[in-house]
Amino acid sequence: QWTASNIIEHSVTRIREEVGTDQVLLGLSGGVDSSVVAALLHQAIGEQLTCVFVDNGLLRLNEGAQVMATFARHMGVRVIHVNAEERFLTRLAGVVDPERKRKLIGRIFIDVFDEQAGKLDGVKWLAQGTIYPDVIESAGAKTGKARLIKSHHNVGGLPERMNLRLLEPLRSLFKDEVRCIGLELGLPTELVYRHPFPGPGLGVRILGEVRKEYADALRRADAIFIEELRHYELYDRVSQAFAVFLPVKTVGVTGDGRRYEYVIALRAVETTDFMTAQWSHLPYELLEEVSRRIINEAEGISRVVYDISGKPPATIEWE
Ligand code: XMP
Repeated sequence: QWTASNIIEHSVTRIREEVGTDQVLLGLSGGVDSSVVAALLHQAIGEQLTCVFVDNGLLRLNEGAQVMATFARHMGVRVIHVNAEERFLTRLAGVVDPERKRKLIGRIFIDVFDEQAGKLDGVKWLAQGTIYPDVIESAGAKTGKARLIKSHHNVGGLPERMNLRLLEPLRSLFKDEVRCIGLELGLPTELVYRHPFPGPGLGVRILGEVRKEYADALRRADAIFIEELRHYELYDRVSQAFAVFLPVKTVGVTGDGRRYEYVIALRAVETTDFMTAQWSHLPYELLEEVSRRIINEAEGISRVVYDISGKPPATIEWE
């Protein structure tokens, strides 16, 4: 019978049998899948699990602190927090092409992860949050973008080079099942029902060259948008919502004079499979409040626009 606790019990037994007394490594992103794997492995093998969380400077506001609070402090999971912001941003300087940015971010991520793994003794397993739809997806033919999603998502190439065996305890589960298990394992509801966040993070939501000041403004704007969506109780009604930084300056005017600053675009979509999507008809009052707050509170932004493109022809992300 399918219940969350049955699945957990069954998985825990299987993980223990498979892993024995070996050490296991997990790249924790803060997303639902890797978080559920962390919680499940922690229950199954406790101290034999080490997680690596890489802050690449392209995460949402307070994301690193939240991951550490939930897993390290609250659940007692061993998490190595790597601050790699400078390293990522330095390598990304001057890179404007979306596909090059994606590949570069994926590559640096693997390097950082690899280095951390090299410092640990006796690790024999690499755990991943692969879920059933990922398995199906990688079996079929894919476009360039989707292939990159996969190669980043699954930390491509790593296991072979590091000579680790793969542990994928969610491999036969659908997203809603993964969420049920996450809740049963005690993960916060907010984390379990969080909107998807792409592997390259804000790197593909800052159009063109990535710079720290752009990332900081975007983080602030995005947090305001999400906060107001929650406030209007619409967060769970949309499938994905986020802000995008447009490195285009436009003229604005405020009490103390003329401004010549950047633009933030807001994106909110409704979809079931993320292959097609409709833009959300968000209430004007919400959009007005978000716009007012972003212009007041996010440094260097003097204009906010709303994206009314469906997928197709537009994609959900802007890059
Ligand atoms: P698009 O932009 O292709 O996005 O309509 C569809 C869904 O996939 C997410 N996405 C990614 N997820 N790595 C990921 O893990 C990626 O490189 C990536 N690119 C897009 C996107 O956020 C949306 O949910």
